[in-house]
Amino acid sequence: MNLTVFGIGYVGLVQAAVLAEVGHEVVCVDIDGAKVERLNQGFIPIFEPGLEALVKENHAAGRIRFTTDAAAAIKHGQIQMIAVGTPPGEDGSADLKYVLAVAEAIGREMDEPKIVVGKSTVPVGTCEKIKAKIAETLKARGREDLKFDVASNPEFLKEGSAVADCMKPDRIIVGTSSEDTEVVMRELYAPFNRNHEKMIVMDVRSAEFTKYAANCMLATKISFMNEMANLAEQLGADIEEVRKGIGSDPRIGYHFIYPGLGYGGSCFPKDVRALIKTAEGVKFDAKLLRAVEERNNAQKSVLFEKVDRYFQGNLRGKTFAVWGLAFKPNTDDMREAPSRTLMEALWAAGAKVQAYDPEAMQECQAIYGLREDLLLCGTKEAALRGADSLLICTEWKSFRAPSFDALKDALTTPVIFDGRNLYDPKVIARYGIEYHSIGRMA
Ligand code: UGA
Repeated sequence: MNLTVFGIGYVGLVQAAVLAEVGHEVVCVDIDGAKVERLNQGFIPIFEPGLEALVKENHAAGRIRFTTDAAAAIKHGQIQMIAVGTPPGEDGSADLKYVLAVAEAIGREMDEPKIVVGKSTVPVGTCEKIKAKIAETLKARGREDLKFDVASNPEFLKEGSAVADCMKPDRIIVGTSSEDTEVVMRELYAPFNRNHEKMIVMDVRSAEFTKYAANCMLATKISFMNEMANLAEQLGADIEEVRKGIGSDPRIGYHFIYPGLGYGGSCFPKDVRALIKTAEGVKFDAKLLRAVEERNNAQKSVLFEKVDRYFQGNLRGKTFAVWGLAFKPNTDDMREAPSRTLMEALWAAGAKVQAYDPEAMQECQAIYGLREDLLLCGTKEAALRGADSLLICTEWKSFRAPSFDALKDALTTPVIFDGRNLYDPKVIARYGIEYHSIGRMA
């Protein structure tokens, strides 16, 4: 099938590459000319396992193309998939200007029937706005005869495993009340829907809401566990034992109950805030979601508070090794990363940071630029050299089994503040290193 994808971000690029891989002819369009040019030269703008090979192979085979020419791209696709960003506006609600600009372009350029698919995470009711915008633009052209439908098809991929998630989706949500659209969407996703039925077809508004409800549920699990972890510290319990104890109940499950420094990234924080705003819009007070967000904001400061308490508020002139900058492993993304809250608090207190991350060093440099109180180190060992103590923000695999002897020798004050509970406190104690983690007694 011929497909046009608007927006070469995480969702758009991964989805486009995966759809090209199964044989569809995909044209990706973006307003960022530099990004398009770099992609055409084989440079992939994001780090995502498996993506580079997938894009390069399909690009070479001509099944995926990148352009800034929206008019030509719109002519190409029977399906027009909108995967542009919906950044939070000043009040936290999703800003739809890019989505609606695409809708307008489709209305302006289409000259045969199209199915428009909303892939971006958009507030309930957005597909109706897209529909209205296209209809209005067609009317202005005097082309009300052109048929189109707007379906919702939210994406559930995770950064770090985006290609795998897209290749093997848990579910394919399609929001439409048109049988014709359903048939086309079934054809589009048939390669991913072979062994058992994964497609769940529902009305447009429910599909839009499903995406928010899923992310808010997961964010709620995390904030709940972080609350339990903080409480466990006060009660002398070990949250890691509690986690296993409750996870063994299949109604609770082991997934997404890891306590830590709070959720970050481009999705959970934004989506929780956006749903709170959407709720306000219909005069509904989303009390639980407000608490989820509040707990998360507070959780990002927990590691700094532990450090500050330990050094009795005397951080000026101290140097801290920070392992892990990305908001989670297997990505270079630092959006809303707890590491940022931590480093900014350390700097404000007059401390220096020696940081290492396997992937996010460039990103960190781009965010903070050159500053005297930040040293970006080439290895995790280099980050330790001359530092007072070690702070861990991201659970990268390569942090799991360091040489504790070398670590102890490198640190002036051999203390680890671990925001991801990577180590067994009993093991660390044997090396004579002090260990503070989340939800466990020091
Ligand atoms: C999330 C969802 O998991 C995807 O299903 C969804 O499609 C995506 O948002 C989106 O809306 O686009 P992502 O933000 O890539 O994906 O990352 P997650 O793996 O979900 O992690 C989110 C945050 O939660 C991370 O900061 C992670 O450290 C934190 N987390 C996760 C915990 O603190 N504890 C856990 O047990 C699990």
